[in-house]
Amino acid sequence: MQNGKVYLIGAGPGDVELLTLKAVRALAAADVILLDDLVNRDVLQYVRGDAQVVEVGKRGGCRSTPQAFIERRMIQLAKKGHVVARVKGGDPFVFGRGGEEVATLRRAGISVEVINGITAGIAAPAALGIPVTHRALTHGVTLVTGHTRDGSAPDWFALARSGTTLVIYMGMANLTSIASGLLAGGLSPQTPAAVIQNGTLPTQHSVTSTLARLVETVAAAGLGSPAIVVIGAVAALADAQPCSSAWQHVA
Ligand SMILES: C[S@@+](CC[C@H](N)C(=O)[O-])C[C@H]1O[C@@H](n2cnc3c(N)ncnc32)[C@H](O)[C@@H]1O
Repeated sequence: MQNGKVYLIGAGPGDVELLTLKAVRALAAADVILLDDLVNRDVLQYVRGDAQVVEVGKRGGCRSTPQAFIERRMIQLAKKGHVVARVKGGDPFVFGRGGEEVATLRRAGISVEVINGITAGIAAPAALGIPVTHRALTHGVTLVTGHTRDGSAPDWFALARSGTTLVIYMGMANLTSIASGLLAGGLSPQTPAAVIQNGTLPTQHSVTSTLARLVETVAAAGLGSPAIVVIGAVAALADAQPCSSAWQHVA
């Protein structure tokens, strides 16, 4: 029997209208859909009625399906000739384990196609009107995780001196140490900062602050994960009247 294939699909930050046309086409072609926890279930409107949908991620203290099990399952399904859609939040290649999965599938001789999604680190700030780059304000943008697998911390001291906007994924649990590391690295206490939870979704909730006051502002607002933290001059461009369509769908 001929092998099927795996589509590694980025579903974007949440708003289902931010799916790409390619993602919609691949969802419609799939026999089996493996859904990660951060994916908006509204994407299921694009799958075939006879497709099998498997939830492979759980939040809120529940155990997620082990990564090795998901990879084995994808290989088994593809070897049976199925078309598999592995659907992840944001972009599969930005803190999405996409690189690991592509390598494993290729080693197993499975054909894999990556379909990019809009990463939360760009879309969530944009939903507040924050451009992560602005040529008058920053030399660029650094996407960085606030939570590492082995517990090691990114070099906040060096990042403070990078001259770039810092866009921090998975930073909420370590926000206090992140803020103090950046201050110790020389960032001004007055550096603008923003945190956006559930960006682009109807449950979007955000605050703007300064680096010095960020932790107390976030705590007072009761913000939690999943959230993007933006540190840098561009965060001051957050607008009460967001310029992206966010969850107000295009008419
Ligand atoms: C494992 S990473 C996945 C990132 C994803 N691959 C991407 O490109 O956006 C999960 C983190 O992404 C961020 N995130 C994902 N969706 C988000 C959203 N709608 N709003 C804010 N942050 C989000 C949060 O920092 C969350 O902890």
